[in-house]
Amino acid sequence: MTSLPSKLQEQLSDCRQEHLLKFWDVLSADEQKFFALQLSSIDFELFLRLREQKASASDKLIAPCDVVQLDDAFQSKGVASIQNGELGVLTVAGGQGTRLGWSGPKGTFPATPVTGKSLFQIIAEQIVFASKKYSVVIPWYIMTSNENDEATRSFLLDNNCFGLKRTDIFIFTQNEIPAVDAEGNMLLATKNSVAMNPDGHGGVVSALKQSGGLEEMSIRGIKHLSYVQVDNPLANVIDPDFIGLHLSDKSSQEASSKCVPKITPEERVGVFCNVAGNIEVVEYIDLPADKANQVHADGELLYGAGSIAVHLFAVDFLHRIADDLPWHLAHKKVQHVHAETGDLVSPPEPNAYKFEKFVFDVLPMAKSSLVVATKREDEFAPIKNATGQDSRTTSHQLQQARALRWLCERGVDVEEGAKVEISPLSGMSAKDLDASVLPTSIASDEVVVI
Ligand code: UTP
Repeated sequence: MTSLPSKLQEQLSDCRQEHLLKFWDVLSADEQKFFALQLSSIDFELFLRLREQKASASDKLIAPCDVVQLDDAFQSKGVASIQNGELGVLTVAGGQGTRLGWSGPKGTFPATPVTGKSLFQIIAEQIVFASKKYSVVIPWYIMTSNENDEATRSFLLDNNCFGLKRTDIFIFTQNEIPAVDAEGNMLLATKNSVAMNPDGHGGVVSALKQSGGLEEMSIRGIKHLSYVQVDNPLANVIDPDFIGLHLSDKSSQEASSKCVPKITPEERVGVFCNVAGNIEVVEYIDLPADKANQVHADGELLYGAGSIAVHLFAVDFLHRIADDLPWHLAHKKVQHVHAETGDLVSPPEPNAYKFEKFVFDVLPMAKSSLVVATKREDEFAPIKNATGQDSRTTSHQLQQARALRWLCERGVDVEEGAKVEISPLSGMSAKDLDASVLPTSIASDEVVVI
């Protein structure tokens, strides 16, 4: 091939992006083919629309939102729904994991303190446990990105899907979108490819629709999805109490979300708020400092309902709003090829804008939405960074602490210093643990896996 198909040529010219072809003539035929294929996958209309989008300052009317406490009042409703085969698990695992700096997909990261189980394995085993407990198939929907799809599939297959049936796992890939520089121009990642980024965790809704995932759920009779991100090893993926609350109203909720107390005004978590009558997650950066610092009489933060990105979504609801999520702009460092010299540039400062969708933007579109407060120490131990806060080290400590609490609750005498890990295959609460496998005591130098 020596020239680009005329339609693509026209599209590039209409968008004033001909600079992308600067190195076309020095590419091999295969490289040209690859490039043409990538260009033909770009939604130029969307690109033009988004290019005009400016970062919008937050001028919203924000108030604290109502929160209900997680309890077992509606557990039987939750159990019945699971047993009826109405529940699927949805995991977003397409992120680039830049902060963690792990070479493979984040889901393959060894996350548990003793056996080093991967983040994917922790979720898979919870599904295996719940499927047995409730005698039902619980399908798992996993969103990957172009970058990590192949590695994710191989990892799951190489590990026999951790006990799940391959046919009960639905893997689909999120869309990508070109990053732009300050002038609104696309950048070259290499001489024959445009710098693209995944369209954010909010891309999950349209990707589920486009991939046939929503259709597949309808055929299976799945009515509700338990949404979790891949990087929180303490997330309780199948929680009958939470599902029960989600279903507690006559018409049930279209969306329900778990929150935990935000620790400090500065903590970088989004907060559930009431924005003009709707529940929304306000990002930490958009919450005005005077609000972030406000406290109740007891000292708790007024805007303290921190999001842990755990939600339940009605499948019908996702069908209805699949194409409606807004786009956000993020100013980021994007490595690229210099438009004139062809040299690789690794910018020291943010040089480009990435377009992303956020999953919590579905919440204000829900006709009914519930925020449920749970215990932070039981359900939140994210692994985001290589070191420091929210790293493997802090997550290990929290996982270990929860395991010890569960064992204490079951009367096991654990000496300080003992290392303990509880497999999701053994249960997802202290009550689940089978008494016959529990030791009476664990000495300080013991390492125990239950
Ligand atoms: P984060 O926002 O923490 O991003 O994603 P990340 O990619 O894991 O890490 P950084 O920011 O590059 O360091 C939260 C969850 O959303 C998923 C991630 O895989 C993770 O489970 N995600 C994020 C996607 O699936 N797609 C995206 O485009 C972005």
